Amino acid sequence: MSVNWALPFDEKIVPENKRTLIPIEAYQKIHKSTVTNYREFWAGVASELNWFKRWDRILDDSNPPFYKWFPGGQLNASYLCLDRHIHTWRKNKVAIIWEGEPTENGAPTQIRKLTYQDVYRHVNRIAYVLREKYGIRKGDTIGFYLPMIPEFPIFMLAAARLGACFTVIFSGFSADSLADRLVDADAKLLVTADVGRRRGNLVKLKEVADRASEKATCVRKIIVVRHTGNEVPMDKDRDAFLDDILRETPETVYVEPEPVKSEDPLYILHTSGTTGRPKGQVHDTGGYLTLLHATMRWVFDARDDDVYWCTADIGWVTGHSYIVFGPLMEGMTGLMYEGALEYPVMHSVGEPINPEAFRWMHRHVGRDQIPFGSTWWMTETGGILVSHTPGLYMVPMKPGTNGLAILGIDADVVDDDGKGQKSLERGYLVIRNPWPGMPLTIHNDPDRYREVYWIKFPGSFYPGDYAVRDDDGYFWILGRADEVIKVAGHRLGTYELESALIQHHAVAEAAAVAVPDELKGEVPVAFVILRAGQAPSEQLNRELNDWVREKVVQAVVAGKPIGDVTTLEDEASVDEVNRAFLDLKQEIESRTASRE
Ligand code: WTA
Repeated sequence: MSVNWALPFDEKIVPENKRTLIPIEAYQKIHKSTVTNYREFWAGVASELNWFKRWDRILDDSNPPFYKWFPGGQLNASYLCLDRHIHTWRKNKVAIIWEGEPTENGAPTQIRKLTYQDVYRHVNRIAYVLREKYGIRKGDTIGFYLPMIPEFPIFMLAAARLGACFTVIFSGFSADSLADRLVDADAKLLVTADVGRRRGNLVKLKEVADRASEKATCVRKIIVVRHTGNEVPMDKDRDAFLDDILRETPETVYVEPEPVKSEDPLYILHTSGTTGRPKGQVHDTGGYLTLLHATMRWVFDARDDDVYWCTADIGWVTGHSYIVFGPLMEGMTGLMYEGALEYPVMHSVGEPINPEAFRWMHRHVGRDQIPFGSTWWMTETGGILVSHTPGLYMVPMKPGTNGLAILGIDADVVDDDGKGQKSLERGYLVIRNPWPGMPLTIHNDPDRYREVYWIKFPGSFYPGDYAVRDDDGYFWILGRADEVIKVAGHRLGTYELESALIQHHAVAEAAAVAVPDELKGEVPVAFVILRAGQAPSEQLNRELNDWVREKVVQAVVAGKPIGDVTTLEDEASVDEVNRAFLDLKQEIESRTASRE
């Protein structure tokens, strides 16, 4: 199918800040040489990290698609994010500026600032607790079900320090979803908080964790971070508050960072699949950190005097890569915000950005100066693979495009037979070469890893996205080619929604599909066949919506009446969000006008 719908393939925008601008042809030439020699190219990037032991080989490709990057190499993620900096002037640099959600007269009432030295101290203490009190060792997996508070990255780094694997479950997930993921990852310890805050709602994380652990019997102990101080039920044999534990822990402890193999798992993160239970993507250590190091510099132009803000939640891969490991490894000062953003205009990942939103962002937020782009990647890829790279070489932007593949990545658009698609013809996005940051496997299910990503186009990685390439070689990702729905950047499988629905006593069969939505990208709509004796009604409709939330993504709506029936994540109706968006837009435009 030829794509000639309203995408501005020929509109080029060059930001005023064009320090690294080069012609597209020049970029293509450099890109080509890095792809031809991608192993050596990525080894060059990896050698900029501090390894305890250098690798023996760049890539072990003896058992595709189970590639191993930098075998023989040893390193530690916590060392790279912390120890390395505290022996330099960065020791007293602020690593994390945290802002809580509550405000008074528009200003946050809670702000915490932690220097690299502070984070280092906390991570060592927590690592000590995990090892000495909870017996956590390399090979164990810890589950994190936490709100956006500084303890979140601290626990992730503490686990990494011990060489233990962790798995994060987004704090909006329900008890069932949490339990499934804990069981799949075989987590023996769960870290949660009493209560989390989200858009003024209190989310009872500990209570959800309690319900989940009835099913997830692998969980033997629960650590609870006291965040709001709300009363929560505690099981005295199983649960402990972090502040109580820390009172019995020496103030200053040092835990040696455990050298791990490059291909040792750093974490497991589940993605919603087209069918079956969520897929636990297993990310390695050496390849993953190499990709983050590269993209922090090339895409975000990370510099020491920057204050950097990634608005994602750590519950998603974006937070893992670009709130925690990427920026801390580069020694940046990062802003971390507890709440969820109300206005979905700031995204540059997760779903296609429409050209108009791009132009508006570039003009009013970027003041025509700042390179702005839509970075394509996914949980599986570990980090950004298709994007503008203004920190390295910049090519003109186009509203709505994802840009070109980053150096060392051989991306293509192919037809059903796997042949290169003509420009402007819709096809499937593929990545033709292994890259650092790729998954090691799907946890507990290597066959599925092969089937989902590597069978459709043998030898290439198949992400499941439609795309076109224009005459300049720019990629335009058009959306999912399979049964995955992206709601406000969150990935949901139709299967998960359907299986939640058929657990309801009134439902015989259910089919969920995605409907395009201007603001959220897509929203799910479900067709339901009721059991004999059941009649459709407004009330049942509402009940089923609540039910899906309860089963799949309940916590984010806790305590509030449910308004819009088509959105899963928040209680505001699309109309309301639309209105809020227009208000914001108007306000910014009037401020801009008065300044000009
Ligand atoms: C989609 C998010 C268009 C795509 C990091 C992919 C995008 C899925 C973009 C992965 C983008 C991601 N433009 N679509 N810039 N970035 N996607 O695992 O469909 O939550 O397959 O990872 O998001 O979603 P995930």
